[in-house]
Amino acid sequence: MPKVLDEHAWGIWSRIIDKAFKAKFSRTSIEEHLRLLIRGFKEREVGLYIHFPFCRSFCKYCPYYRELWNEKAFMKYWKALLQEVKLLGEILSELDLIVVDAHAGGGTPSLGTPSFWREVLEELKSSFEWRASFGIEVNPEDLAKEDIAFGLAEAGVDEVSIGGQSFHRSLLKELGRRHDPEDVIHSIENAREAGFKLINLDLMFAIPNQDPNRALRSWVSDVETAAWMEPHQVTIYPTLMTPQCIAWSSISKGLVSQPVNMLTDFIRVAKNILERSGYSMVRIESWSRGGDYSTVNLEMVGPLLALGPGAMGFTSSYEWANVHSVSEYVRCLGNNKLPVAVSRSVSDIERAARIVADQLFCRGMIREECLVTKTGVSFSELPRGLKFCLKIMEFMGMIEDKGNVLKLTDKGLIQAHKMIWAFVLKVPCKIAEQLMDTPWPHEVIVP
Ligand SMILES: C[S@@+](CC[C@H](N)C(=O)[O-])C[C@H]1O[C@@H](n2cnc3c(N)ncnc32)[C@H](O)[C@@H]1O
Ligand code: SF4
Repeated sequence: MPKVLDEHAWGIWSRIIDKAFKAKFSRTSIEEHLRLLIRGFKEREVGLYIHFPFCRSFCKYCPYYRELWNEKAFMKYWKALLQEVKLLGEILSELDLIVVDAHAGGGTPSLGTPSFWREVLEELKSSFEWRASFGIEVNPEDLAKEDIAFGLAEAGVDEVSIGGQSFHRSLLKELGRRHDPEDVIHSIENAREAGFKLINLDLMFAIPNQDPNRALRSWVSDVETAAWMEPHQVTIYPTLMTPQCIAWSSISKGLVSQPVNMLTDFIRVAKNILERSGYSMVRIESWSRGGDYSTVNLEMVGPLLALGPGAMGFTSSYEWANVHSVSEYVRCLGNNKLPVAVSRSVSDIERAARIVADQLFCRGMIREECLVTKTGVSFSELPRGLKFCLKIMEFMGMIEDKGNVLKLTDKGLIQAHKMIWAFVLKVPCKIAEQLMDTPWPHEVIVP
């Protein structure tokens, strides 16, 4: 039995992903990047993601690309981001793209001042046709301050995703968070008062070093408190362990342990409590009472424009990662160059597989008609490895095949969680690990 939720912890799914998925990104010349970028967009409606790379301190198990907050570096990032929006808008102007979904993640986007977000939004709206709500990830210690909540709403932020994680002081301390349970409550209240159209609350389970006899009780209480606070949406994440987190040396010495044998219980009780409280599942890790806040779905299926250091974009046939370094990002844009570090082409078949993964494993259902419309690929033309996997899952009662609709069963839901987290640890987390290690790698190979 694994002790922690690292890339090896997911049984058969860790091995299947090693075998079934391979991706190689290479260093790209700007000319080639521009050519593939312009040629790659086949749809006019696109999503947009901005990476805000600063945090005031680092949480113990955080796997994301972030740098320590520094006022001077933030001012340079601000100028460079405006330049990137303008440059990308000019390069893509002939495609008449329409932005229909827009989010900023991080890092801690709530460290960006209201004037920063107002200016960024103004530049975005003058560079692209804009039909999107704009959502950002916020930390409770920021949103618990009324002036920040109201300032962000007045600057044009429509939606917030609050990184609450837990209502237990001891668990927040174990994660190395800067906030208290009271901040989570105040931030939800302030978000409501400030009038955000969608409020998502993130909670984390399987937090390390808990008394296993109390872990489930604390989790039930966290999910019940979340439902009682009535955000529009609640999203649950297992606490994943990666080499880029600051606690990795303790983890690799075996000094960290997680209640790994209770994953099914954590997921099932959250589902029961939230559905009893009037929430419906919109993705396997999210329950909503209206709307869906997600920065990840377009990363999987595209098309997604990506801005900021550490952002990853996908046209539907071409995928790229921006440099994971604020100083290099600022230097590139100072020279009026897009900050692309590495990229790769994606075949129609791979995109079809990504759409199946996103719709069936992340949302619970896929219609063949929808796959064919988006990619021209039918179920029978999917990659052999994926078809084999779907057959085995059907045989084991994890999915139902209703002709041209595949549906995840209740048994399949837990397996889908395991598959998705194995994938996240082996693909996006490994890409970030390599790009955080060196800003300009020759190539990045995953898993
Ligand atoms: C991109 S993060 C950043 C949001 C914001 N900076 C924060 O921490 O509140 C989005 C969410 O990822 C989740 N997260 C953080 N560390 C994680 C980990 N080690 N494993 C899985 N999810 C994690 C948290 O629930 C967090 O709210
Ligand atoms: S979890 Fe959020 S606040 Fe903590 S270090 Fe990561 S990005 Fe920053």
